[in-house]
Amino acid sequence: MPAPAFFPLPVTRVEVELTEACNLRCAFCYNSCAPRESRDPEGILHRLADAGVMELIFTGGEPALHSRFPALLKLAGSLFARVMVQSNGTLFATAQALDVLRQNAVFCVNFSLHGPEAVHDALVGRPGSFAETRAALEHAVRAGIRAASNLVLNSRNARPDVLRETVDILAATGCEEMTITRFIPTGLGKDKPLQLGADAFISALRVLVEATDSRGIALLLANSAPACQLPQDLQHLCNRCSFGHDKFYIDVQGQVMVCGMGRHVLGNLLETPLCDVLHGADLYARYRTLAHLPEKCRACPMLEDCGGGCRAAAFARANEIDAEDVLLG
Ligand SMILES: C[S@@+](CC[C@H](N)C(=O)[O-])C[C@H]1O[C@@H](n2cnc3c(N)ncnc32)[C@H](O)[C@@H]1O
Repeated sequence: MPAPAFFPLPVTRVEVELTEACNLRCAFCYNSCAPRESRDPEGILHRLADAGVMELIFTGGEPALHSRFPALLKLAGSLFARVMVQSNGTLFATAQALDVLRQNAVFCVNFSLHGPEAVHDALVGRPGSFAETRAALEHAVRAGIRAASNLVLNSRNARPDVLRETVDILAATGCEEMTITRFIPTGLGKDKPLQLGADAFISALRVLVEATDSRGIALLLANSAPACQLPQDLQHLCNRCSFGHDKFYIDVQGQVMVCGMGRHVLGNLLETPLCDVLHGADLYARYRTLAHLPEKCRACPMLEDCGGGCRAAAFARANEIDAEDVLLG
C-alpha cells in the first residue's frame, strides 16, 4: 500500500548551497569541495519565496565564492524576511570585503572557527585561515551585524585548554553567540578518525558551557544529540532538529534534501514546486508520522527535548534514517 500523502506544513527556513567549491579543505567536511556552482540560484530563490519561505541561509562549499554572490544577496534581501550567511569568513577579512553583507542588510552571519590558530589552520588545511576568520568576526561585530561562530566538535579540538582558548578568542572579537556541531562522519569527513567518544563529548560540552557562561556568550548545539545519553546538567543543550519538518536544504542541482549532512533527496525544486515535492515524498510522510525515528524514541518521554537526536548522525552510523542516534561508547 502506498504511504499516505501528507499536506505539507509551512516551511520557514531553507539552507541554499550556492556552490560546492571551497577555498579551504576542512578535514571533517560533509560536502565535496567540487567546483560545482548552483544550477539556477535565482530560480531557486524565487521558487522558495513563492512557497512562503521566510528565512534563507546561504551555505556551500564557500557561498562567497559564487560568481554572483553580491547580486544573490541583494535578490534574497528582496524576497525573504531574513537572510543569513554560513561561511568560513576568509573572504570577509577586511571591513571593505565585509561591506557587501552590511549593504545588503544580512540579518546574521555564522563564521566557522574551529579552535585557536594552530588547531584551526591544521583542521581547515590552510595556514593563515584563522587570522582571516577572526578578522571577519571582528569586522562583522563592528559593522553591527549579528555574528555567531560555529565550531565542529571533534577529536582534534576537544581538549579543555583548546576549547577554553577558543571561547576567549571569540569573546575578544565581541562575538556573543557560539554554535557547535557534533562531527558527523560523512562526505569528505567519512573515514576520518575525528569522532569523540561519549565521555569526551560530554566533558567537552561541560567545558564549553562553563567557558561560554563565564564570558557571556550564548551556546547552541546546532545538530541535536540524544538527551537520554547526556547527563541531566547538559540536557538543556538538546533541541528538536527542525530539518525535515519546517526546514530543508537545497543543493547545487536544486534538489530538496532533508539536510546537508544526511543528503536524503525529496525531489527537485527546479522541476517541482516545494509544496508538491513534500506532498509526494514518502520520507516527508515518515517525518510527519515520526516513522523516521526508532521505536524507542517515539515512545520516549524525552522526545520533546531532543526529537530523537540527529538523523544524519544515526544514518552515518547505521545507514538507516530511523536508526538510533548513539553517542559512541
Ligand atoms: C559545509 S560548511 C559550508 C559553509 C562554510 N564553508 C563554512 O565553513 O562555514 C557549513 C557548516 O557545517 C560544518 N560542518 C562541515 N562538515 C561537518 C561535519 N562533518 N559535521 C559537522 N559539521 C560540519 C562547517 O564547519 C560549517 O560550520
